[in-house]
Amino acid sequence: MRYITVALAKGRLADRAMEYFSRIGCPCEEMKDKKSRKLIFTNEEAGVRFFLAKASDVPTYVEYGAADLGIVGKDTILEEGRTLFEVLDLKMGKCRMCVCGPAAAERLLMHREQIRVATKYPNIAKDYFYNKKHQTVEIIKLNGSVELAPIVGLSEVIVDIVETGSTLRENGLTVLEEVCDLSARVVVNRVSMKRESERIGDMIRKLRALVAEDQQ
Ligand code: PRP
Repeated sequence: MRYITVALAKGRLADRAMEYFSRIGCPCEEMKDKKSRKLIFTNEEAGVRFFLAKASDVPTYVEYGAADLGIVGKDTILEEGRTLFEVLDLKMGKCRMCVCGPAAAERLLMHREQIRVATKYPNIAKDYFYNKKHQTVEIIKLNGSVELAPIVGLSEVIVDIVETGSTLRENGLTVLEEVCDLSARVVVNRVSMKRESERIGDMIRKLRALVAEDQQ
């Protein structure tokens, strides 16, 4: 039997997703060994194998069919813009994509000034400002600690993920506008969806039932 291959975004999300796979009959004990440098983990009985990848690479593996399924944040799905099916919201890792900055920057947004926007998510920021708000801005791509940008004068605002809001608070910044809600999603390769419709369909149904159960 062909393995169903699942790509998981490394980190907290992967641990929580693996709990779900465990509960639908696809546990993977090997993966819990944090010291291991192994990249791919197999559950022979279930005919499923898992691998951990950098979040932004998960949609790529799934688009090309190197993984049938992927577990990744909506932020990464939107940013990468790959061709795949998004089939289920796991309702975990909930947070928001927001435009943030010092409170004084609100005026600049209101008056549609040509401001600079620093972000790890240039495509999401472009889509928001150009297509939704019809506002011309300069987007500056950063790779982390984006909150620094308005503090040191690289940009007026940032587009970034807000979860608890504590990073913003501790740096004297605030949410100015909301771009969209985010959470972990299950994505599926378009061909796999047809070729393995029975097994993948079954996994998704079981995962969907678990999500519903946990929401109650
Ligand atoms: C994310 C995000 C914010 C922070 C938000 O950063 O980019 O900085 O978490 O969380 P909070 O609202 O609960 O404070 P991450 O930890 O991924 O680090 P990075 O920005 O340096 O990549």
